[in-house]
Amino acid sequence: MPKTGIKADRKGADQHPHPPGGLPSLLLDWYDRHRRVLPWRFAPGDVADPYRVWLSEIMLQQTTVATVGPYFQNFLDRWPTVQDLAAAELDDVLRAWAGLGYYARARNLHKCALVVAGRHGGQFPETEEGLLSLPGIGAYTAAAILAIAFDKPATAMDGNVERVMARLHAVTDPLPGSKPTLRAHAASLVPDRRPGDYTQALFDLGATLCAPRKPRCILCPWSAACEARKQGIAEDLPAKTAKAAKPTRRAVAFVLTDARGHVAVRRRPEKGLLGGMMEVPTTPWEAAPVPTLASSTLHAPLAGIDWKMLPGTVRHTFTHFEFEITVVTGRAAGAGGGVDLIWIAPDALGDEALPTVMMKIVRHALAKGD
Ligand code: ADE
Repeated sequence: MPKTGIKADRKGADQHPHPPGGLPSLLLDWYDRHRRVLPWRFAPGDVADPYRVWLSEIMLQQTTVATVGPYFQNFLDRWPTVQDLAAAELDDVLRAWAGLGYYARARNLHKCALVVAGRHGGQFPETEEGLLSLPGIGAYTAAAILAIAFDKPATAMDGNVERVMARLHAVTDPLPGSKPTLRAHAASLVPDRRPGDYTQALFDLGATLCAPRKPRCILCPWSAACEARKQGIAEDLPAKTAKAAKPTRRAVAFVLTDARGHVAVRRRPEKGLLGGMMEVPTTPWEAAPVPTLASSTLHAPLAGIDWKMLPGTVRHTFTHFEFEITVVTGRAAGAGGGVDLIWIAPDALGDEALPTVMMKIVRHALAKGD
């Protein structure tokens, strides 16, 4: 099966009880009346800018529409074209990305801009193969770009589309095992007419009416065809195989300020989790309970500091583990110091490539510390 499920894998098209064009046309009519106005969306009749489509799709992976809005606008203001983004310093891109999470995406974003600007004359490829060869572009993103930017019939499967398909066809097998079935259903519906609008319409349907909880079937353009609604099981779908609980890792974080009130941060190694981003120094992140203050300070960023442990913890969820952080604060006598430390005024921390978990830690310290 082609990775994006582009029309070749339209299995089951002839099994659908509705006339060809029926369901897609109903959805497109609904979209024409109820489409969401989103910062990256072009007006009906306007030609899509593949750069904007690509940028928004990368940002929207694992992140909500509401969060992405201001980031997308800021990126476009600073780097209006793929050539501009390619010419940017990686560090500036990481800084502008801070808070969106999954930082490997930002590195790949910059890499991809360099390849498109350098090897493709600033034009995004218009084929599945060409798109898949670019850094950070997988099956979902390739299909979304083909559909939305180039109006080609491709099947972009995201969580919204999976949910809508599971309900429309009352697929009760749980995810992730049911993915191939859901993809085949989705592929069988993609129309030749306005596939880009159809793709966005499906995202909107899943995000607004066919929501995970309390689907508003009464307003849905597909309600008459929806098998799950007929069986009264829409809200129970898609079924999901129970996930194993995430392990917890724990650490002590050192929020060190100097005589000016500047906060000490350092850069994380390029490879691995939060690669190349800034952090406040921490003890190693481990499953074991947090060590005592005395043994934690073996990892302290500066010697001779009178550390104070704050009450409470900061929690942050990563893809593969929960992170629980105990925060200690300390004050250095002079201004700056330390081998690999960078000292930043608190109100300038927002301009650094400081991931959300690190911002949470600093806020906790500034709120609870003295
Ligand atoms: N989710 C992923 N891509 C999207 C898009 N282009 N519009 C709305 N929601 C989305």
